[in-house]
Amino acid sequence: MNNQSYTRRINERVRRRRRRAAVLTVFFIVILLLALLSVFLVLHFTGRLGDGDDSSVTTEPPTQTQAPAESGEPAGSETTAAPETTAPPAETTAPPVTYTTLTLTRADMAKGDLILVSADYPYVFPATEGHLTLTYGNKSKGYQLGSAQDKLDTRVLAAFNTAADAFLAETGETGLILVQNGAYRSYAAQEDLYNRRVAKEGEEAAAKYVALPGNSEHHTGLAMDLSVYTDGKMYGLDELETYQWVPKNFPRYGFVLRYPASKVAITGIAYEPWHFRYVGIPHAVYMTNNNLCLEEYINTLRAYQADGTHLFVESDGITYEIWYVPLTDGEVTYALVPDGVPYSISGNNRDGFVVTLTLGRQ
Ligand code: DAL
Ligand code: ZN
Repeated sequence: MNNQSYTRRINERVRRRRRRAAVLTVFFIVILLLALLSVFLVLHFTGRLGDGDDSSVTTEPPTQTQAPAESGEPAGSETTAAPETTAPPAETTAPPVTYTTLTLTRADMAKGDLILVSADYPYVFPATEGHLTLTYGNKSKGYQLGSAQDKLDTRVLAAFNTAADAFLAETGETGLILVQNGAYRSYAAQEDLYNRRVAKEGEEAAAKYVALPGNSEHHTGLAMDLSVYTDGKMYGLDELETYQWVPKNFPRYGFVLRYPASKVAITGIAYEPWHFRYVGIPHAVYMTNNNLCLEEYINTLRAYQADGTHLFVESDGITYEIWYVPLTDGEVTYALVPDGVPYSISGNNRDGFVVTLTLGRQ
C-alpha cells in the first residue's frame, strides 16, 4: 500500500465518522424537540400553562362555564350531563277538587253547635227529643251527677265525658259535678225555674241569672252547669284552684265559659262560673284565645266569607278552616264544601251559617 492510497482511506474514514456524528446530532436534536413539544402539550392540556401567570398555585375556582341563571338554562347543564333516561319528572298534577252544593234554609239556621240563644234570639224547639241522651248510665268516671234525670245532646255528652276524664287524669280531683237541672231543660222546666226565682228576688234580679223560658241555652242540650261537690259541700269552680283546669282546658274539647264577668254588658247575663256551652273545638279555642263571647264571635265571623279570607284555627295539631255564609235572599242560601273533607255546618240562629272543615294534621 502506497502512501497516497493510505491517506485516501484515512480521509474516507474521517468523513464517515463526521457524517455519522452529524446524523446522530440531528437525531438527538429531533428527539429533544419532540420531548420539549410533549412537555408543552401536557402542560397546555392540564391547564398549567396560562397567560403568563403561574396558574399552578392559584386558589381561585376554575372559570365558570355554565350558563347564567337569566339564560333560562338549568344551572350546571353543561357539566352535570345527566342522562335523559334517569327518573321521570315527579307527578305534580293534583286531582281536581270537586265540591258539593248544600242548600240551607231559614229553618236550618236555628240548628247546630253555634246557635245564639239569648234574650234577643229565642230557641226554636225541634219536633222531637231524639238528639238527647240521659246522662245516668252514660257518663264517664270524671264527674258526678246531681240528678239521674238530666239529659244532654248526645254528641255533647260524649265530649263532656272525654273532657272530664282528661280533668280527672291530670288533676286527680273527683269533685266535678253536673248539677241537678243543670243540663237540658224543657220550656216548662225553665218557666218553673224562672217563676220561682222571680217570686224570691223580683224580675230584674232573676233575669240576671235565669233566662226567660224559650230563651235559655239549656233548651238546646248544648249547655251544662258544673260545680264541685267534695266533703259533703258544694263549691263554685272558681273557689278551688285545681278546678281552674276546667275553664282553662275545656275549650280544647269544644266548651266555653259562656258568661264571663267581662262580657256581662254583651250577654245580658251576670258572671256564671258554672255555665259551660258546647260550640265545637275550633270555635271554643278561638273564642277563648281571643277573649270573645258568642255574640262577638258571630260578629267576627262575618269578615270570613266563602269568596274571601277564611279563618284557620289549630287545636292539638289539627287544623280547621272556617267561614260564614249569610242567608242572603231571606229563605235559602247555598254553601259549597269540598268533597272528601269532613265538615259541619251550623246555623247561628241570627242571620246565617258557619261552615267548619276539619283539615286534619297539616
Ligand atoms: N243561667 C242561664 C242564663 C239560663 O238560665 O239559661
Ligand atoms: Zn246554666
